[in-house]
Formats: sequence, structure tokens, C-alpha cells
Amino acid sequence: MTSAIRPPFVVAHRGSSAERKEHTLAAYELALADGADGVECDVRLTKDGKLVCIHDRTVNRTSTGTGLVSEMTLDEIADFDFGEPGVPAAVLTLGDLLTLVLDWRSRPTKIFIETKHPVRYGSLVEAKVLAELQRFGIASPASADHSRAVVMSFSATAVWRIRRSAPLLPTVLLGESSRYLGGSAATTVGATAVGPSVKTLREHPELVDRAAAAGRSTYCWTVDEPDDVKLCRELGVSWIATNHPARTKALLAQAG
Ligand code: G3P
Ligand code: CA
Repeated sequence: MTSAIRPPFVVAHRGSSAERKEHTLAAYELALADGADGVECDVRLTKDGKLVCIHDRTVNRTSTGTGLVSEMTLDEIADFDFGEPGVPAAVLTLGDLLTLVLDWRSRPTKIFIETKHPVRYGSLVEAKVLAELQRFGIASPASADHSRAVVMSFSATAVWRIRRSAPLLPTVLLGESSRYLGGSAATTVGATAVGPSVKTLREHPELVDRAAAAGRSTYCWTVDEPDDVKLCRELGVSWIATNHPARTKALLAQAG
């Protein structure tokens, strides 16, 4: 078992999503105020090619509207309310979130952007993510450690597209299978980190050392339970994604 050099960095999964509606500006503002070291978002393309922070294929679960994200324009999706009763919230674009994170001057918070696949527009989503990172001047960091953005996917092909077009950007190959994440896939696509679920990590803690031996860090999701935070800390996981960033930061601080 690896002894942790430092406690894991804390990533707010869909924002402070246990306390605010996921992927809303309020959820991310709270995450930053909570002291999160990074924020996670899922991105999808609208019919008119805009990147929006929405997890599901449809807007049904998270908004007042119905329908497939890929079949509606941004203006159409903007008519729906993504907030909670009495606290309306507009759909968040990736540009909105990048603006918030990069304008946050207290500390250099990272943004972890997950592209979902399979999707109607295929590789266009990675091309658009890269174009957006270029627009904000963060597509070519001096080093992975200094990067303000990390791109992630369960799709190895998607990770490879990012690696090929923006070799300095850090990437996470997400997965559920220890055999997959501990095998050659991450090396083949040039991922700088592997991303097991906490369930997978509990069953296969050796994944952290295996990744480290290959020069990769580990990003674990979704780490909400105190025992799981402790496990990640003891194993030397670099990044933990949680719906409870304030509580998780406090737990890690208590542990010293
Ligand atoms: O951070 C990775 C994690 O978000 C993957 O699962 O379904 O929450 O996008 P999901
Ligand atoms: Ca996600």
C-alpha cells in the first residue's frame, strides 16, 4: 500500500450537488466557497453545437422540460428551469462554468470535464471542448500539474482524441473494471490518470500503486462516505470526486 504524500485533492462532483441542484451555477459557486480544489462537470452538445453541462441524454430528470439534449438548441433548453422550487436556475454552458472557475481568484481551482459517449455527434464533442479550452487560453498548459483543465471519459477513444490534439492536457480514463483500468488501455490512449469508481477501488486497492508504477495518478468517484474518504487517503489517491466537498475537506483536514 502506498503511503500518501499528501491528502487527496477534492473535486466537487456536478458542483456541491448534495446541497444544490446538480450542474447549476449555485452548485458550483457553493463548491468554490466550500473550498473544493476542483469541480467536475459532464458536457453534451446541443443541436446547434453548444456545450452544456448536463449529465443525462435528456433534460427530463434535471429540468422542467423534456426531450433529448442533442435534439434541442441552446435557446430551447434555456427555456427550462434547472433549479429547485423558488430558486430558478438556467442551463449552464461549459463557457459559463469556465468563466466562473477561472475568475475564482482565491486559489487555482481545476475543472474536470467529462465527455459522454456514445453520442449523436461523436468526436465533435471533444473538438468543441478543445476549442473552448483554447478560447480560454488553457488548452496548452506548461505541465499536467499546472493545468487548469482535465478531460475525462469512459470512452478510451475520446481520451485518445484529446491526447492526440492537446498532448499537454491531463486526461482521465474512467472505468468500472479493474482489469480494464489496470491493463494496457490507459497506456495505449496516453491517459495521465485512471478513474475507478470507489466500489472498484475498494475491491481492487492495488489499482493505485499499479497506476503510480506506470506514472499515472488516480481519480476516484464518487467518494461520499467517510470510510471511503479514509480509504482513498490511505491509498494515495490524488483526486476524489464527491457530492459533499465541504464535509470531505473537513474530514481530510481532521485526519491531518
Ligand atoms: O467523475 C466521474 C463520474 O462522474 C462518472 O460517473 O455517471 O456521475 O458521470 P457519472
Ligand atoms: Ca460525470
